[in-house]
Amino acid sequence: MAVPVLNLKAQYAEIRERIDAAVQQVLESGQFVLGPNVSALEEELAKFLGVARAVTLASGTDALHLALRAVGVGPQDFVLTSSFTFVASATSASYIGARPVFVDIRPDTFNLDPNRVTEYLAGRGPGPHPQDRVRAMIPVHLYGQPADMAPLAAIAHERGIAVIEDAAQAIGAEYQGRRVGGLGDIGCFSFYPTKNLGALGDGGLATTQDQGLADRLRSLRAYGGRERYLHEELGFNSRLDEIQAAVLRVKLGFLERWTARRRAIAARYRAGLAGSGVALPVEAPGSTHVYHQFTIRVADRDAVQRRMAERGVRTAIYYPIPLHLQPMYRDLGYRPGDFPEAERAAREVLCLPMYPELTDGQVDEVVEACRQSM
Ligand SMILES: Cc1ncc(COP(=O)(O)O)c(C=O)c1O
Repeated sequence: MAVPVLNLKAQYAEIRERIDAAVQQVLESGQFVLGPNVSALEEELAKFLGVARAVTLASGTDALHLALRAVGVGPQDFVLTSSFTFVASATSASYIGARPVFVDIRPDTFNLDPNRVTEYLAGRGPGPHPQDRVRAMIPVHLYGQPADMAPLAAIAHERGIAVIEDAAQAIGAEYQGRRVGGLGDIGCFSFYPTKNLGALGDGGLATTQDQGLADRLRSLRAYGGRERYLHEELGFNSRLDEIQAAVLRVKLGFLERWTARRRAIAARYRAGLAGSGVALPVEAPGSTHVYHQFTIRVADRDAVQRRMAERGVRTAIYYPIPLHLQPMYRDLGYRPGDFPEAERAAREVLCLPMYPELTDGQVDEVVEACRQSM
C-alpha cells in the first residue's frame, strides 16, 4: 500500500461532525469577521500557550511581518535569522525594507547556532556590517523543535535586540518547561492547513506577554487604528475569519492528543531505523519536540527519495535551497560556502510522512522502504 506524505482527509474524517457543526453555526450567526469565535479562540490559545495575549491574524507570514513592525523595525534595520528555514522567516523583514541577515545552523537541531550569532555580532562571519544595525532576531523552531532560546535571548537582551520567535511549525513545543511563543517578545504561529494545528485555509497568530505590543498588533491587523475610521498609523487588513476560528477551536481540543501520537510515531521511526545508516533527528535535552516533521539525513538523498517513491512511500524536502542562496536574495551578496551547515542540510534532509492518522502498519512500511532504499 502506498503511504502519502500527508493526508488531510483522514483528519477531517475523524472529526467531521464537530467541524461541520462549527461551520454551520457561523453560517447561521451571520457574523463573519472579528466575532465571538475569534475572541474565544484568542483566549483559549493564550491559555494553551501560557502567554498573556494572543492576537489572531490572516497568516503566519503576516504574524512575522506585523511583529517586526510592532517592535519598531524600520527600513534602516537588519533582521537576523537562520538561513535554513521557510522563506517567510526572512521576507517579513524585506516587506518593511529592512535587510535580512543570515546565520548558520547547528547541525544536530537544524536551528540557529548561538555561537555563530555571537560571532556575527562580534563582527566576524559572512554578512553585512555594521552589525549593530541588527534590531531584531528571528529564531525559528524548525520541524517542531525549539531553538536554543536561553543563549539567543541573552545575546539579544545584552544588545537591545528584539526577539521574534518563528513558531509556525512548533505549536505546543516546550523549552525548559515553557511553551514556545512566550519565550521572546512576540511569538508567531501559522495555521496553514498542513501545520500541527491547521485551518481550512490561511490563518496565523502572534503571542506576547506585553499588553502594549498586543495593542500594536491589533491596530496593525485592522487598518492602523483602535477606533473605527480613526487611523493612527499605516495598518493592514490581516484578520482571521470566524469560520476559521470556529474550526480551530474544535481542533485545539485535539491538539495534545495529536501531538502525543506524532511523538509515538517518531519513537517508532527511531526504533525501526536504528542502525540503518540514516542520521535520525536529535531531541535537544530540556526540549519537547512536537514533530511537525520527522527529518532524517542521508548522504545520497535524491536517490533515496526516488527509491522510496518507487516503493510507494512519498517523502518531502524542507528545504532544498538555503535562503542565502535564493535568487530573490542575490543582491545581498552571500556566496556558496558562507553557511556550510545550512548548505549541507539542504543537500541531505529528507522528511518522512508524519501525521497523527498514520497507522503503525504504515510507519513500519515507511521504515522498510527507507531501509531497502539506502
Ligand atoms: C517556518 C515557517 N515560517 C513561516 C511560515 C509562514 O506561515 P504561513 O504559510 O501561514 O504564512 C511557515 C509556513 O508556511 C513556516 O513553516
